[in-house]
Amino acid sequence: MGDSKVTLATLAALKARGEKAVFITAYDYPTATFVDRAGVDMILVGDSAAMTMLGMPNTLGVGMDEMLVFVRAVCRGARRALVVGDLPFLSYQPSDETAVRSAGSFVAAGCDAVKCEGGRRIVSRVRAMTDAGIAVMGHLGLTPQSLAQLGGYRVQGKTLEAVQRIADDAAALEEAGAFAVLLEAMPAEAAALVAERVGILVYGIGAGPHVDGQLVISHDMLGTFVGDIRPRFVRRYAEIGRDIERAAREYAADVRAGRFPAEEHCYAIAPDCEAEIRAARRVTAGIESPYAQALP
Ligand code: KIV
Repeated sequence: MGDSKVTLATLAALKARGEKAVFITAYDYPTATFVDRAGVDMILVGDSAAMTMLGMPNTLGVGMDEMLVFVRAVCRGARRALVVGDLPFLSYQPSDETAVRSAGSFVAAGCDAVKCEGGRRIVSRVRAMTDAGIAVMGHLGLTPQSLAQLGGYRVQGKTLEAVQRIADDAAALEEAGAFAVLLEAMPAEAAALVAERVGILVYGIGAGPHVDGQLVISHDMLGTFVGDIRPRFVRRYAEIGRDIERAAREYAADVRAGRFPAEEHCYAIAPDCEAEIRAARRVTAGIESPYAQALP
């Protein structure tokens, strides 16, 4: 792993060497900074921000204005990793022009690439964006922006017919100029078949090991997701949510018991000035102030 900025050529070279790309979501400056320092290859500013950051029940409610705030923060923190901005619901579906404008604002905000959901039905959007010089990643399998059509968060590609359809979608995205496709929530064997059918990079989240790299939602692996969804494919690497709660309880107890702030948290002052101020407090506020009444 070098220090230079990850580009599409870096990702292709990783694949050529048989090395897996490491892909993680981030939505804020500190997380982007820390995961970038850890050497991840790609950061997705996912529309999962709707759920992880904004407490919404699904990804459908987040818009371009909110996503741009997350995108700018992440791009400030990511020095090496390639940043992919996730086009939110209705930011590309209406027309090719909408897609190019939305993707263009992500690129202007610092993204290296954009991601959008769907296969054959969005090829003209993908072609319009790639024709505009924008690097596009497709997203197939479980596509949360079509949650109602899919009937919920369900594993996709569970029959040969279903996998063939996904593979055809992936091939259509490749033909439209996409540099990669992300497969979500598919059996490992099904994802392997899709990966073998295309020449572009294939990444997975819950799609097994036979792909070119793995994506994880940072809140899932760090233990900061507030909610009941805990997909089978997540491995927990930290319990930061639990740590935040414990730290806040300890802080509250210390404040309530007068243990915080302690002397080491207070600013020092020259002793003669302190004496003068103390005297002034006795004179001016002594009657009303419970603190001044306690003064020696
Ligand atoms: O928004 C996101 O984080 C995503 C992943 C779930 C694939 O699109």
